[in-house]
Amino acid sequence: MIALRSLRLSRESPDRRVRSARQNWAGFQKDRVLSPSGISIAPMDSKHLTEARALSEAERWPHTIKDWDFMLALGRGAVALDGDRVIGTIMWWPNGESHSTLGMVIVARERQRQGLGRSLMEEALAEIGSRQVTLYATKEGMPLYTEQGFEKIDVVEQHQGQPTLPDAGAASNETPVRSMGQDDFAAIVALDAEETGRPRGVMLQALTKAGEGLVAERGGQLRGYALARPFGLGYVIGPVVAEDDRLAKTLVRTWIERLSDGFVRIDVRAASGLSGWLAAHGLSNVGEGVTMVRGGAPDGRQLSPRLFALASQALG
Ligand SMILES: CC(C)(COP(=O)(O)OP(=O)(O)OC[C@H]1O[C@@H](n2cnc3c(N)ncnc32)[C@H](O)[C@@H]1OP(=O)(O)O)[C@@H](O)C(=O)NCCC(=O)NCCS
Repeated sequence: MIALRSLRLSRESPDRRVRSARQNWAGFQKDRVLSPSGISIAPMDSKHLTEARALSEAERWPHTIKDWDFMLALGRGAVALDGDRVIGTIMWWPNGESHSTLGMVIVARERQRQGLGRSLMEEALAEIGSRQVTLYATKEGMPLYTEQGFEKIDVVEQHQGQPTLPDAGAASNETPVRSMGQDDFAAIVALDAEETGRPRGVMLQALTKAGEGLVAERGGQLRGYALARPFGLGYVIGPVVAEDDRLAKTLVRTWIERLSDGFVRIDVRAASGLSGWLAAHGLSNVGEGVTMVRGGAPDGRQLSPRLFALASQALG
């Protein structure tokens, strides 16, 4: 068994290939000054991350600087600056040529309701262009996103805590679960694309580099996978894709066994039916997010019931 914690979870610098993918993402390169306020919107850079983290901390979000750095390496970001001071953030992540996710939209408390969130959204959406955009909204964010043309398509439950393993109700499954190897990666990307309708290979590559994966295989075919990586105070489990809820529970339970001495977070779809089961395993439901899309549901399809957990509320 590979214990995730024994990896020191490669909180290493993000992959160079991912960094160069970000650099190739065409878009705004210069600062834009919002008149008459004098506040400027500028591309997010690693030098902004300490202050960006202070903004997320003020909202009681758990992201560390390394989490911010990881997300920036995967996509693009913009900051609202008052002089040199970061007073707002936004990030977005391409999934192939036709999709993008968007998140980490934060405006400093004392600057809210002054139009900054709208300006940051407009900047990001202008660069994202005609791509379909998915985001996971807090209650506070929903009015802004609705104003920008986003529609609610799903609900996500945030669970976290110190996991426990009650004997009763232990998940069992005839599909064996094992640690992911390099050879599994292509099948994971293909299964993920099938279930999400999005090409997420670049993101999955970064997630597997930052953490580890479990795969479930039967009859020579991949039936599910679950990744986990360091995040915030401990670890986050996700994405989880599985052919049914029994297998999803087996995958999550295997992670819980491996992470039993750590703080664990998992963001599951409300429709997954996993909420009560997670609470019984010490992972309490601490909040709800709303999945919103601009431009219809992914590929016009209904969301797949086989997508159980997100990579995170930011990355989707
Ligand atoms: C969500 C957030 C980014 C909005 O930023 P903001 O700069 O305050 O938003 P804006 O001033 O640009 O608001 C634009 C419009 O959105 C709507 N809106 C924004 N905040 C609102 C609120 N609290 N209640 C109702 N409508 C709101 C309004 O239509 C507003 O236009 P108006 O002020 O002309 O009526 C900000 O409240 C925030 O940082 N919240 C905490 C972090 C968070 O939850 N982020 C969302 C993550 S998904």
